Amino acid sequence: MSSGLTMNGCLGRDLTLELVRVTEAAALAAGRWMGRGQKDAGDEAAVHAMRAMLRTVDINGVVVIGEGEKDEAPMLFNGEAVGTGQGPAVDIAVDPVEGTSLLAHGRPDSIAVIGVAPRGTMWSPGPGFYMNKLVVGREAREAISPLSLTAPVADTLAAIAAAKHKAVTDLTVFVLDKPRHAELISALRTAGARVLTRTDGDVAGALMAATPGSGVDVLMGIGGTPEGVIAACAVRALGGAMLGQLAPQKPGEREALLAAGLDLDRVLTERDLVCSDDVLFAATGITDGLLMQGVRYADSGSTTHSIVMRGKSRTRRVIQAEHGPNELKTVRLCHQI
Ligand code: FBP
Repeated sequence: MSSGLTMNGCLGRDLTLELVRVTEAAALAAGRWMGRGQKDAGDEAAVHAMRAMLRTVDINGVVVIGEGEKDEAPMLFNGEAVGTGQGPAVDIAVDPVEGTSLLAHGRPDSIAVIGVAPRGTMWSPGPGFYMNKLVVGREAREAISPLSLTAPVADTLAAIAAAKHKAVTDLTVFVLDKPRHAELISALRTAGARVLTRTDGDVAGALMAATPGSGVDVLMGIGGTPEGVIAACAVRALGGAMLGQLAPQKPGEREALLAAGLDLDRVLTERDLVCSDDVLFAATGITDGLLMQGVRYADSGSTTHSIVMRGKSRTRRVIQAEHGPNELKTVRLCHQI
């Protein structure tokens, strides 16, 4: 039996491949629901597949970020024990379908994701559903500071552009297309940046912003807190930078946060959100996207595209997997459409 750790006591390299199997299983199950207009069904299929595959992984894992509560969607619940129990003690952050509406409508960049870090290293948002986020890749790490979240957008963009040796007009900023972002989008346009809007999916947005050469330079705006912690796993593994500040949007959210003793003024960095560089992150495309192709099905088998990263070594692997028809049958049997 492997301890799941390297000789230096870090999370083992083999674990990265195990995690890709987990996100592949979720994507294979969820992809069947593309464009069928049934948000929860795709999510549920992915949750079951992810949970089943996690059972085979040699970790002593606890789900600390099990996305789903905000929308009362199917989920891997917070506190759920996952893995064989034989292996490193780890925190797990999952989103079996990040972008359930994207999947239901057949829109781009719905992905299955998982982040893993040593036990006790992931931040808990408590009763907080939303946070304001800013993400850049490693070239622009030094261009942002906690003040960047409240500074004029034009100033933040100018600093990022200078760090990337680009003009502001050459920067592409990812923003969720939500009414709450009308002012932000208008300020970005006035500053001259290119704006990539998506109705959902700011983990994919953060992944793009932190990945060199993705075509996206920055992510800005308010999205989910679970997605914030998951994104921080990817950002840490890529050596990028992230800022996050609780930004309550739902009725009663602010009061609940204050009652729970959370500091609404605190600006967290990626190091606060995941306080270890021994972090692993895996994502598999469900629908076609900018970074990963979605699942392709055929009677002879199916194809998935994934990215897996290991923070300790800063390795990023891009994996195209061909799955035999038997694997497909298992997924179909478990999740009849
Ligand atoms: P789901 O996968 O739960 O559908 O979340 C999609 C998403 O767009 C996230 O990427 C984002 O962080 C959050 O929802 C934003 O929440 P809201 O749609 O409530 O503004």
